[in-house]
Amino acid sequence: MKTDETHNIPHDVPFDHHSDKPGAGHNESSSCPVIKTIGVLTGGGDCPGLNAVIRAVERSGIKYNFETLGIRNGWQGLIDGDVEPLTDFSVSGILPKGGTILGTSRTNPLKKTSDFQKIKANIKKFGIHALIIIGGDGTLSAARDVAKQGIPVVGIPKTIDNDICGTDMTFGFDTAVSTVTEAIDRLHTTAESHHRIIVVEVMGRNVGWIAVTAGIAGGADEILIPEVHFTMDRVCKKLKDRYDAGKKFSIVVIAEGAHEKDLGLASVPENERDECGHEKFVGVGNILGKELERRLGIETRVTILGHVQRGGSPTAYDRVLATRFGVAAVQLVHAGDFGKMVALQGNRITSIPLESAVNQLKTVDPEFYELAMTVIGGRK
Ligand code: F6P
Repeated sequence: MKTDETHNIPHDVPFDHHSDKPGAGHNESSSCPVIKTIGVLTGGGDCPGLNAVIRAVERSGIKYNFETLGIRNGWQGLIDGDVEPLTDFSVSGILPKGGTILGTSRTNPLKKTSDFQKIKANIKKFGIHALIIIGGDGTLSAARDVAKQGIPVVGIPKTIDNDICGTDMTFGFDTAVSTVTEAIDRLHTTAESHHRIIVVEVMGRNVGWIAVTAGIAGGADEILIPEVHFTMDRVCKKLKDRYDAGKKFSIVVIAEGAHEKDLGLASVPENERDECGHEKFVGVGNILGKELERRLGIETRVTILGHVQRGGSPTAYDRVLATRFGVAAVQLVHAGDFGKMVALQGNRITSIPLESAVNQLKTVDPEFYELAMTVIGGRK
């Protein structure tokens, strides 16, 4: 297949970016509007704000005379040809809803050659000129690979984990942090009443952004994250010092991906992975809770927040960020600027090559973690 080297646009995909200049979208000879179709899908774990971004894509597409085709259940829908036209009417009222009206999956579009053939055939069949792929690291890595195969793709970063490089924030994160902060506030009152330690396990497979941010916001007494190794001796000393100083309760926030080795456990063998290649979790929160109670003799309870963090209505911040991302992605499509991901840098929406977004994860800034360590736990 021949491709345009600048934008990776395959010549046999029905998209002519050369005519897609400001004012383009019109057939010059007939002055009839040329309708172009954007396919939009959500892949990977869901998060609050997905519907806001879907709505923004559909609404801003109208400005450029684009039609929007919703692809159901991530890449799987493009393999199966499972699509639905999105209209002003169908995206009405979805802005505040959690989850994704399109459904999602963790399908890898390039795992089987036959699947990718189906994707190309469906792109042709439905007259899709460009794809807007809304996803986290896994889905955007696949978008990068699909773009390399010559499909016009624009990516939008989403994840509660906030671990995508090149963007200061992903939407979904602010909502998850608010949910965790509220939970910590609630747990504080019961921990204090019962003079207990409460361990709160939060999401964060590889990074501790939720743990650190909600830990600061909720006034946690210890925060344990995958990026920073810890020892049980040090954690116990910190909590005991608090106890001895008269604070007879503690809140310990631990990210699910914190190192089980630090708790004195063998790490999970490479072959014990889920179907997406993710490390299987051993339940660090429960293990930590048992170990704290055994070592300190202080009654301890564990709360695993789990998927509660992924649900619910997006915060105003996430709704606005998702909307800005959706509008910016459509602008990239209009400009024929493919192989890119929209990003927030400072307060500006910009775009970066997908390649640079997915090469590595954005881990917690050490200075931010240090700030958290400065303020948590009271006088040591
Ligand atoms: O969205 C990322 C994430 O929230 C991780 O922190 C978590 O481990 C994972 O999703 C769990 O996703 P699922 O249960 O849907 O596979």
